[in-house]
Amino acid sequence: MPKSKFERDRYLAIIESMAEGVLLISHKHRIVLANRSAGELMSWISPLKGSRIEDVFSSSALPGRIDKVFATGRTEELKITSYRSSTGDEAVMKGKGREKSYRISITLLEGKYAVMTITDETMMARMAVVRQDFVSNVSHELKTPLTAITGFAETLIDEDLGREEIRSFARIILKNSLHMQRIISDLLLLTSLDRTEIAHSMESTTDTRIFSEVRAYTQFRAEAGNIATEYEAEGFTLECSESLIVQALVNLVVNAISYSPQGRTVRITSSRKGEMAEFRVADKGYGISEEDLPRIFERFYRVDKARSRESGGTGLGLSIVRHIAIIHKGTIKAESRLGEGSVFTLSIPLR
Ligand SMILES: Nc1ncnc2c1ncn2[C@@H]1O[C@H](COP(=O)(O)OP(=O)(O)O)[C@@H](O)[C@H]1O
Ligand SMILES: [Mg+2]
Repeated sequence: MPKSKFERDRYLAIIESMAEGVLLISHKHRIVLANRSAGELMSWISPLKGSRIEDVFSSSALPGRIDKVFATGRTEELKITSYRSSTGDEAVMKGKGREKSYRISITLLEGKYAVMTITDETMMARMAVVRQDFVSNVSHELKTPLTAITGFAETLIDEDLGREEIRSFARIILKNSLHMQRIISDLLLLTSLDRTEIAHSMESTTDTRIFSEVRAYTQFRAEAGNIATEYEAEGFTLECSESLIVQALVNLVVNAISYSPQGRTVRITSSRKGEMAEFRVADKGYGISEEDLPRIFERFYRVDKARSRESGGTGLGLSIVRHIAIIHKGTIKAESRLGEGSVFTLSIPLR
C-alpha cells in the first residue's frame, strides 16, 4: 500500500477511474471497497461497500474460489454469466432478457484482502455468437447451389444424354454458379463496408447523375419484368460516395421490380429535406407483413425464399443498403403494407 496520503489518494483515483470493476474483499467475503465501474457493470443500485459477495453474486462457484485465493495466495480466474441485482431479480431478466458474461480475476493483496477485477465480456460473447451464426448461414447459402452443381455435373459425366439435355443441364450449372458468384461478391462488399478503417471517398455529385446511373443498371430488369419506372429528381448537388449510393438505390429498385407483379409501376424520387438528401423508392407490389418488416435488413433474411431466389437475390441486398446508409451517417426506413406495396426511404446528409 502507498505510504503518504497524497500517494494513497492518487491510487484510489486511478482505481475509481478504471473501466474494469474492482472490489476489495475481506476474508469474510465482505466488500471493503468498490469502484464506480463495479457498481455500473452490475447495475447495482445500493452501495456495494459493506455487502457480502454472496448477496451480490448468484454464482455458487465464487465464494469457494475466494477462499482458495486466501488459502493458496494464487490468482484465480473464472467466468460467470449472471448476477443478482439489489432488487433480488436476476439481472438476466432486466438486461432485455439477455445474459451478461463477466470475466473475474481474484488476487491476494498483502495476505489480508482479495482484489477482484470484473470485466464485462457480454459484447464479446454476443459477437462470437453473431459470427458463428454468420458462418453457418454463409455455409448453408453456398451449399444449396453447390449441391445442384455437383449433382448435374455428375449426371453429365455418368449418363448418355442427348444434345438438348446436355445444354439444359449446363444451363442449370451456370445459373447456380452465377448465384454463388453473387453471394460471394455481396459478402465481399459487405465486409469492405464493415471495415471502418477503409475511408470511402466522398465526392460532389447530383441526384440527376445518380438516377441516370441507377436507371442504366436496372432498366433491363424492369423491362424484363414488365415494370414501368418513373424517375423524378429534384436536381441538387450532394457530397457522397456516388458509387455506393448508386449501389444502394440499385438494390432498392431491383427489389421493387422483383417483388411486384407484372404491369406495376415503380417510382424513384429525390428531394431535399433540410440538411438531408432523401431518396425514395416506392412500389405497388406484394408488400411486407408487419412482423417481417423489422427483420428484412438482417443478413440472409427473406420473407419468401423461393421468390427471392427466382429474382436472383442473395438475401444480402438490404443489409448492404443499411451499411451504406450508416457509412454516410444517414438512415434507411421501410414502410409497407401487405398486398399494397412498399416505400423505402434513404436519407443522407447533403454534405
Ligand atoms: N420492395 C419490396 N417489396 C416486398 N418485399 C421486399 C421488398 N424489398 C425487400 N423485400 C423482402 O425483403 C427480403 C430481403 O431483401 P434483400 O436483402 O434485398 O434480399 P433479396 O436478395 O432476397 O432480395 C426479400 O427477400 C423480400 O422478402
Ligand atoms: Mg434484393
